[in-house]
Order: sequence, then structure tokens, then C-alpha cells
Amino acid sequence: MTSALASRRSALLALCLSAAYALGCSDAGSSTTTAEDRDAGLSADSAPPPSPTADAASPTDAGSGAATIAVSASDFDCILDWQKVRGFRVKRIGGGALAESLAVANSASGGTYPPGTVLQLVPTEAMVKREPGFSPATKDWEFFSLSAQSSGTTIRARGTTDVINAFGGNCFNCHNQAQPQWDLICEQTHGCDPLPISSATIQSIQNGDPRCN
Ligand code: HEC
Repeated sequence: MTSALASRRSALLALCLSAAYALGCSDAGSSTTTAEDRDAGLSADSAPPPSPTADAASPTDAGSGAATIAVSASDFDCILDWQKVRGFRVKRIGGGALAESLAVANSASGGTYPPGTVLQLVPTEAMVKREPGFSPATKDWEFFSLSAQSSGTTIRARGTTDVINAFGGNCFNCHNQAQPQWDLICEQTHGCDPLPISSATIQSIQNGDPRCN
């Protein structure tokens, strides 16, 4: 048994040595992988699942800048009234200045959107930047799947890593592909898989927002 094990080990070693050039089968390679795995584990650990009670918690230290951003269906009104930046629309709720949100949207090097920023590409989907600590996993973004009618907006689903759009796609899984400096914002050049619809189609969907009638 011992010799069988030993010969299996040497066969593995031979395989490793012969593959070393092609595959980087070395101690350095494997310890790098281990370190990366450990880092990934740590960052996952440091992102606890969002607490369903977080919304209900009243801000204990009002004035610290971390006050809860309350979001309701009526915040999602006619998309054409919102500031347009390239293809998407920007609004600010919670009392902060829209100019701060637009500064990030217009920055060539990215940045972190301020709490209360609301973004929409189409009337049925929205991202709202919530207060710091709301959801580390989604960089404090809350995703919304909406139903838009001329009578107003209904929230179909809201949340962090688990919101699904009308086509069965998980918002976070796509938006999380954006390179880190873009704060989960995809646009067309930030590293996300592209949407299967053209910019012209997106614009005509915005123009047809039933809430603008
Ligand atoms: C299949 C991947 C995918 C899914 C699923 C998805 N998105 Fe997006 N989203 C994109 C891409 C790509 C863009 C940029 C499109 C463009 O600018 O042409 C985008 C754009 C946006 C924008 C404008 C800002 C930006 O990131 O460019 C918002 C807001 C948005 N999506 C919200 C949502 C919400 C909310 C959901 C879920 C209800 C969702 N998305 C689901 C890929 C996705």
C-alpha cells in the first residue's frame, strides 16, 4: 500500500513537473491561489446578508449623515423629468444635491454615488443608493423591479442581491460585473455583459414612459 501510494505520488509529481511550464504548477502559484481564496473568503465574510430589520430601524444618530433613505413608489415618477446622463436618468431623493450625483455620473474615473441617488435606464428598473452600511455586498445599492402605469408606479420587488427583473435576470449578478471604480454602474464600457437592446430602443422606451402622460 505504501509503495502504491508512493508511486502514485511520483506519478503526480512527474505530471506536475512536465506541466509546470504550461500550467504554472509550482509552489508559488499554489500559494498565490490560496491567498486569493482567503481574501475572497474574508471579503465575503465581511459582507453579511442584509438585515430585513435594517429598513425599520430608526436612525439613532440623526445628523451623522447616515440617516435612513426612505424610498417609496411615488419616488419613481416620469423618467423624462429626470436629468439625462448619456443613456440613463438621475434623480436625488432624501434632500441631497443632485449636482453631487451628477458629478460622479460625469466623472471620467468613476466614484461612489452619494446616498439618495436614484438611477433608471428604463421605467421598470431602478437603483437607489441607500445609507452607508445598508448592504455592503451591493455597495449600499437597493435594486427595484417596478411596474409603471399612467396611474403611477408599483414596486414589484426590491432588495439587494436577490432582485429579479421582468426577464428573469438577477440585477446584482449583472451589475456586479462592473469594474470596481464604477460603483456597480454598467453603462456600455464598464465590464458588464451588454443588454440585448440598442440605445435607440432604450431611448424610445424612456419616451414611452406611461407615467409621463
Ligand atoms: C442581463 C444583465 C442585466 C440585468 C439582469 C439587469 N441589468 Fe441593469 N443594466 C445592464 C447593463 C449592461 C446596463 C447598461 C446598458 C446601456 O447603457 O446600454 C444596465 C443599466 C442599468 C441602469 C442604468 C445605470 C447603469 O448601470 O448603466 C440601471 C439603473 C439598471 N440597469 C438597473 C437594473 C435593475 C434594478 C435590474 C433588476 C431589476 C437590472 N438593472 C437588471 C445589465 C443588466
